[in-house]
Amino acid sequence: MTRRKLIAGNWKMNGLKEDGLRLAREVAHRAVAASRAAGAGLHCDVLVCPPATLLFPLAEELTGSPVLLGAQDCHAKPKGAHTGDISALMLRDAGCRFVIVGHSERRADHGETDAMVRAKAEAARAAGLVPIICVGETEAERDAGKTLEVVGRQIAGSVPDGLAPESLVIAYEPVWAIGTGRTPTPDDVADVHAYIRKRLAERVAAAEGVRILYGGSMKPGNAKELLAVENVDGGLIGGASLVATDFWAIVEAAQ
Ligand code: 13P
Repeated sequence: MTRRKLIAGNWKMNGLKEDGLRLAREVAHRAVAASRAAGAGLHCDVLVCPPATLLFPLAEELTGSPVLLGAQDCHAKPKGAHTGDISALMLRDAGCRFVIVGHSERRADHGETDAMVRAKAEAARAAGLVPIICVGETEAERDAGKTLEVVGRQIAGSVPDGLAPESLVIAYEPVWAIGTGRTPTPDDVADVHAYIRKRLAERVAAAEGVRILYGGSMKPGNAKELLAVENVDGGLIGGASLVATDFWAIVEAAQ
């Protein structure tokens, strides 16, 4: 089964209007040029997930380019008295196609549990968005040999039942690899991704079709090796997604 690779930039809490628009424009220009050169469109899906304040202007900036737009979080309810929150429906309205849910920074900063992440993923589906559900172990959990146990529990608790394979993306992001410059070995990544796919098969029909991204210090220098690992169907990129040339080098590494 061939799964089209997805290279996604998670800008996190970075980008004021001018810088964000410039970055989006630089990525869009490269995407348009590459898809023209290829004749048959881009070789993979390219997604940017800016802060919520930039969604509407970026939707406009990206119009006419193959670059997709996503958000970094959503509320589990479609509307109502939830000050400061943004619903999946609002994200869809802003032009999003994807939304990241359950990022380890939200699990840590906002106490998000697997049940909350699952509810957000369900809200995303109801709004017509594809949730990118993040899982990953901490350094202490890895050192204790609990990586598969932790990731398996997160998959069991965070993934809604009955999603079609194209309506779901999983991102494996070891917490200790995020923003540290450290990455697991390709063999370790292969083991975890294979295990995720096995556990997904208990939750989703046709789990073979679900894209599983790797995230955590993916850079131009290591992207080719990581993206070549079996069951790695793309990347979720933080720091390197803030520099157009680096982000695009990772897109090119997905050829
Ligand atoms: P870095 O690429 O900066 O390590 O961040 C990864 C990440 O958390 C993407 O969601």
